[in-house]
Amino acid sequence: MPDSPVRVAVTGAAGQIGYALLFRIASGQMFGPQTPVRLQLLELPAALPALDGVRMELDDCAFPLLESIVCTSDTDEAFADANWALLVGAVPRREGMERKDLLSINGGIFTGQGESIARTAADDCRVLVVGNPCNTNALIGSTAAARHGMARDRWFAMTMLDESRGRTQLSAKAGVPVATVRDLAIWGNHSSTQFPDAWHATIGGRPAPEVIDDDAWLEGEFIAGVQQRGAAIIKARGQSSAASAANAIVDTVRNVTQPGGAVFSAAVPAPTEGGYDVPEGLVFGYPLRATAPGSVEIVQGIEHGEFARARLAATTAELLEERAAVEELLA
Ligand code: NAD
Ligand code: LMR
Repeated sequence: MPDSPVRVAVTGAAGQIGYALLFRIASGQMFGPQTPVRLQLLELPAALPALDGVRMELDDCAFPLLESIVCTSDTDEAFADANWALLVGAVPRREGMERKDLLSINGGIFTGQGESIARTAADDCRVLVVGNPCNTNALIGSTAAARHGMARDRWFAMTMLDESRGRTQLSAKAGVPVATVRDLAIWGNHSSTQFPDAWHATIGGRPAPEVIDDDAWLEGEFIAGVQQRGAAIIKARGQSSAASAANAIVDTVRNVTQPGGAVFSAAVPAPTEGGYDVPEGLVFGYPLRATAPGSVEIVQGIEHGEFARARLAATTAELLEERAAVEELLA
């Protein structure tokens, strides 16, 4: 017997990531083959004709699990009763920009959307912010939503793409299948200060540094490669990552909704306790584990050496700077 349908709101649905994402949700890859889905797609008015074309293509796939599609530029209509809100709609950076350069353009989107989600979405709604700079946009959105009573721990920002990039780098260096690389946590900001922690990753069940046996590579080329991968894609493609970003969205939602003990990366609001001394409320990338469908805990007990502590301090400082830059949106 099929499960009850999941309502999924996707913003920026006519954009590049939207085009790579919607078909995967509708085919069942996000919520599984037993769960019908209802898509609630938000776009700017100017992009509604293009979104209508995407809707026609979704119709033409005749996906058995796809129960309905709403296309709208009305925020409340898009988020009404949504169980998941995937906040993709935002301007991407161009070559030569850092993601935080987008704050003044994109930050304001997330106050209205946060308020609307808190007012109109389902009580169990979980939110994944993808639009950049995603950590601070999630801080803005979750703060606006909290003003309307929504718990901040239902908000996530996406660092899964960084984790996947890092796992592939480690597997290539070790010459082993990527599936054997696990527990690679991305700490901090989805930016060029993030800290991909190979020191607590495992390869075939053994500590990654022991298998790789090249600390200089781990501290240098590996970290820089993950930090700069988004920029490298923009340089090569002329546009930012889209299919791999959509894949990371699918992986994030699956990890949050399907507790199985696996450690995965996403950014969440730093808690009062158990957040590794990160200032409370900053949306910070951690290793997480799902404890029940939709609920996660931060993996505890990880000890960082001096090198890692310096990296964590740098990415925390950047997030504090970003928070200061959007102070008026948080007031
Ligand atoms: P895109 O320009 O192709 O699409 C963005 C879409 O969002 C456009 O169709 C636009 O009309 C729409 N949009 C803009 N403002 C909106 C609003 N207020 N409400 C609803 N829709 C709105 O961009 P893209 O390549 O799909 O990327 C989207 C965002 O995702 C960018 O900010 C990009 O930097 C970010 N991104 C994040 C990650 C990550 O790992 N966190 C990875 C890739 C891309
Ligand atoms: C990425 O990591 O690919 C995205 O955040 C897009 C970007 O601006 O790099």
